[in-house]
Amino acid sequence: IDEVRQHRCADPNLTWGFVPTMGYLHAGHLSLVQLSLAGNEKTAVSIYVNPTQFAPTEDLSAYPRNLAGDLAMLEAAGVDLVFTPGDAIMYPPGFQTTVSLSQVTQPLEGSSRPTHFAGVATVVAKLFNIVQPTRAYFGQKDAQQTIVLRQMVRDLNFNLEMVIGPTGREPDGLALSSRNALLSAENRAAAPVVYRALSAAKAAYDAGERSGEALRQIMREVITAVPQARIDYVSAADPRTLQELDVVAEGVLLSTAVFFGKTRLIDNILIEATEGKEQKENKEKNLGSSGFRGV
Ligand code: PAF
Repeated sequence: IDEVRQHRCADPNLTWGFVPTMGYLHAGHLSLVQLSLAGNEKTAVSIYVNPTQFAPTEDLSAYPRNLAGDLAMLEAAGVDLVFTPGDAIMYPPGFQTTVSLSQVTQPLEGSSRPTHFAGVATVVAKLFNIVQPTRAYFGQKDAQQTIVLRQMVRDLNFNLEMVIGPTGREPDGLALSSRNALLSAENRAAAPVVYRALSAAKAAYDAGERSGEALRQIMREVITAVPQARIDYVSAADPRTLQELDVVAEGVLLSTAVFFGKTRLIDNILIEATEGKEQKENKEKNLGSSGFRGV
């Protein structure tokens, strides 16, 4: 931690991008690293499989790891600093603080993994305090994580900008995830159903469907047609509050968690609110023809 701080403070005027990871890096992580390298003078990455975001029932020891491979990739990418702490550094004896959020952590992932986000928020708060980045980079694949961490940054006044990178996908649509390595060949072949289900719901939305339940039912039907897949949840929720929607009025987060054997995959498609005609007209009036708002 002291070494990281020395690097960070060597020239306080430099901008630092930070990509927190749990390692076993793939092209999705590397695209966040590229965003950080392009947007900052220095880039730091952390590799730490954080035990507090795994429940006792979840197999922490099965989480894939490849530190040597990860470091080679990050070196080749031109990253300036990699922080690879162990448990004794992150949670020394006597550790007793938890960062927990009350609302956005409850639904979706929170309902299946009730202790997960307290673990994520606590470790990310610690990492932010250690690295003190100008910008921090997270993937849209973990949609609820991005919402939880944005809220934490607002609530605890972290002085940094959150940047969310798009979900990387295999050619068959499967979202890139370190957990994909845990799938058997049969389950790997079945897993693209997750994105097919989300895409079917999005196609229905694009064709005018606005019933939240109808969108959820489309996802259920597509997923249950594949015998290897077991649904944990399907959701059509408000992208800000994550509450399930009866009627989609201003954007929707379509998301799902599906088990293939013991491996649980998550994915989502975010449909952002489109501005109504009236809102657009008002905005144009306020901005004037140059699009420049006077102060
Ligand atoms: O998204 C992840 O890999 C982890 O949840 C994170 C943000 C690195 C915290 O352990």
